[in-house]
Amino acid sequence: MSSGPINMPPERPILDDPALLEMLWSDMKQQDALHRAGPYWDGKIRNSHRLIRRFGLAEFRDTAIATSFADAPQIDLTQQLAGTKYGRVLPWILRHTPMYSAVLAVQCRWTKDSVDREEETQAKLFTALGGDWLDAMLHEFPSLPRGSSEGSASRMLWRGEDFSSYYLHMLSYIDSVRKSGLDFEQVETVMEIGGGIGANLHLMLNLFPNIKRAVLVDLPPVAYVAGQYLGKFFGKVLTYRETRGQESIHFTPDQKEPEILVITPWQLPQLRTEIDLAWSSHTFAEMTTDQITFYLREIASRLQSTGELVLISYDDISGGALPVDAVTALASRRFAIEKIAAEEWSWYWSSQLFRGRARNT
Ligand SMILES: C[S@@+](CC[C@H](N)C(=O)[O-])C[C@H]1O[C@@H](n2cnc3c(N)ncnc32)[C@H](O)[C@@H]1O
Repeated sequence: MSSGPINMPPERPILDDPALLEMLWSDMKQQDALHRAGPYWDGKIRNSHRLIRRFGLAEFRDTAIATSFADAPQIDLTQQLAGTKYGRVLPWILRHTPMYSAVLAVQCRWTKDSVDREEETQAKLFTALGGDWLDAMLHEFPSLPRGSSEGSASRMLWRGEDFSSYYLHMLSYIDSVRKSGLDFEQVETVMEIGGGIGANLHLMLNLFPNIKRAVLVDLPPVAYVAGQYLGKFFGKVLTYRETRGQESIHFTPDQKEPEILVITPWQLPQLRTEIDLAWSSHTFAEMTTDQITFYLREIASRLQSTGELVLISYDDISGGALPVDAVTALASRRFAIEKIAAEEWSWYWSSQLFRGRARNT
């Protein structure tokens, strides 16, 4: 049985740092296409940036801030316009013109009802298919994070306790990879590309006390959200505030507590550390092929000889993202990846899981 994380400070509220947000945002504008958002993400990050400015982070999982990189449902559709050129004026008009605001109120109520019904159905399905699995997980990992925070309504009730359904899906991936034979107990340093709010790293560091160092690479403003979110749980989170402009980015030597580096795509070439595990979940499919190639090269150059890449991808139903086969074809040029079985209750984005070592090139 895992003993749970050591030296974890008490959880604290999430902090806003508008100056850091703007520093990241304006620096990103100076970067070339490889290190900025591709077409799939450009509008989403603009939207998210505007909404963070408007609402702050206190309830970010209940707004469209994190709709695309965590578990926030899309309820108020005017929030989806925040990053567009009409983003300031149109939502204001819609909210303040009586006829439109009445329509908007009805739309929000109907959408909320339908999201609630979907959550209920998911919870029933989970109870039927995933309950035994969660019991086994709780037996092995008693410190598994409970509850949900920052306004997230996406929850599952199990034996009187609240779990974030987003976290349970992340946990199911970790467990599937573990069952396929990857030994997490041997991992000291993990790097996640496109780690979103950091839920997966929060889980990994919680479940496996041997993981002492983690790197999360993401675009602004997601990297901002992740740094502030992970800062709630871990005492040592180095954000862009600490690493901006550094020619070589390191972990603190001989650090006893877990340490997390949250960096941007353009900082990755400056990262000086070897890694045991690289993780990318629902991320490569939403990048350009040049960006995927960049990340695969950066990962391969840092992976220990026994280290592995875990790749999780999905087949897009709405269009716009790369199909799984295209992602795995690119990954196969550098990594000898194999498909692994996923937990049967986990239907999230109909994900497929792969893992493998770097090829000797
Ligand atoms: C669908 S979200 C997935 C988030 C999380 N990994 C998960 O599985 O829930 C895709 C993530 O990829 C990130 N992303 C997109 N393009 C990127 C790029 N060029 N470099 C780094 N991250 C990127 C997004 O900001 C977002 O956090």
